[in-house]
Amino acid sequence: MTVFNSSQNNSSAADDLDAADPLKDFRAQFEIPKTKEGSDCLYFCGHSLGLMPKQTRQVIAAECDAWGALGVEGHFDAKHPWLPYHEFLTEGLTRIVGAQSEEVVAMNGLTTNLHLMLVSFYRPTKNKFKILIENNTFPSDKYAVDSQARFHGYDPNEAIIELRPRDGELRVREEDLEEQIAKHGDQLALIMLGNCNYLSGQCFDFKKITELGHSHDAMVGFNLAHGAGNLELSLHDWNVDFAVWCSYKYLNSGPGGIAGAFVHKNHLGRADLPRFEGWWGTNKETRFKMQSQIDPIPTVEAWQLSNPPIFQLAALRSSLEIFDQAKMSRIVAKRNKLSSYLEFLLSENVGQFVEIMTPAFVEGAQKRGAMLSVRMKQDPKKLISVFAERGVILDFREPDILRMAPAPLYNSYRDVFDLVQIIKEVSHA
Ligand SMILES: Cc1ncc(COP(=O)(O)O)c(C=O)c1O
Repeated sequence: MTVFNSSQNNSSAADDLDAADPLKDFRAQFEIPKTKEGSDCLYFCGHSLGLMPKQTRQVIAAECDAWGALGVEGHFDAKHPWLPYHEFLTEGLTRIVGAQSEEVVAMNGLTTNLHLMLVSFYRPTKNKFKILIENNTFPSDKYAVDSQARFHGYDPNEAIIELRPRDGELRVREEDLEEQIAKHGDQLALIMLGNCNYLSGQCFDFKKITELGHSHDAMVGFNLAHGAGNLELSLHDWNVDFAVWCSYKYLNSGPGGIAGAFVHKNHLGRADLPRFEGWWGTNKETRFKMQSQIDPIPTVEAWQLSNPPIFQLAALRSSLEIFDQAKMSRIVAKRNKLSSYLEFLLSENVGQFVEIMTPAFVEGAQKRGAMLSVRMKQDPKKLISVFAERGVILDFREPDILRMAPAPLYNSYRDVFDLVQIIKEVSHA
């Protein structure tokens, strides 16, 4: 289904693919940024900030209206009362990450949640204190694990093991990942990987890594900043210990949108697990009795600290409705086809000018998500300036990496074709 042939290297073939796309009508539910001339930009930055669902404006406005009309009583009397508002997102989130209701919660920002999870799941001892991460992890993740190691009195240079591709290679080999886990197993306290990796788009095998980690008595957690709303996930069944994610990328909840956290049921209610706590984590029945001792909620909600930002929850609730209409399985099917079309067009039209970092599509395995990262063999500066002139929005990382994510909910095959045409014109000029 994802194999294309030379007869599809033209705009009418791209239009035909769009006409046959079961998700084609979802694009109309999003605001697409416009060029100076008023046409749609070619937006390939869903891996950075997803586009705005049109209905989100009304959903947020409804909460402003409730605030205006009800003041503090909105906590109880708003159409979607603010007190339990985060609960309205729980079921949608279980479908996004493959979890049970008591295992997921929307709260805080991503790095905050990562720290909260590390407080509980990174419990180093003299002999078992190492954390395995990727060498090209997103800087905030590295800062978080480094600072946690220091907080516990360890030198990050000793405590943090960075998984890296072999010299001259762009991706981590799975056998090298397994070898690192085996090599450091005795001292390994935690495996914490970004999945997919933010830079290369490489997706690691959640189930296998979790099993391997557990076989060495290490905890296993994932940062799903690039996975939530992009990958097909079964965190509960895979026995992942914890996960965190943001919602402003593929989940389209808006800039700085509220993040999420998953804690496996195996760890819920464990009195031996330390946790940083706040009043939103205490028993809801007695919360307003203002007791001085916490009575933790027996679910992941025990990790909540503060009463949550309702406008952000509203934006995510709006977006999750669209995911429920579209269904993750259909999003994933289109993701595979759309990213494969991008890969096919790049190799047909500009193969000699680009090197694709992201793993190739493999039927039946999740080796990547929507994003393709591409190294430009020519100086990319001209390309970047043409992108700016022609309304192409994607992401450039020094020195030569373009990251482009066709997002299945709003990108079309024609978008992909037009993007590659621009790269071709500039590359061949
Ligand atoms: C993999 C990864 N980790 C962490 C972050 C930081 O997220 P936040 O600023 O929401 O804490 C990002 C943001 O893009 C990211 O992609």
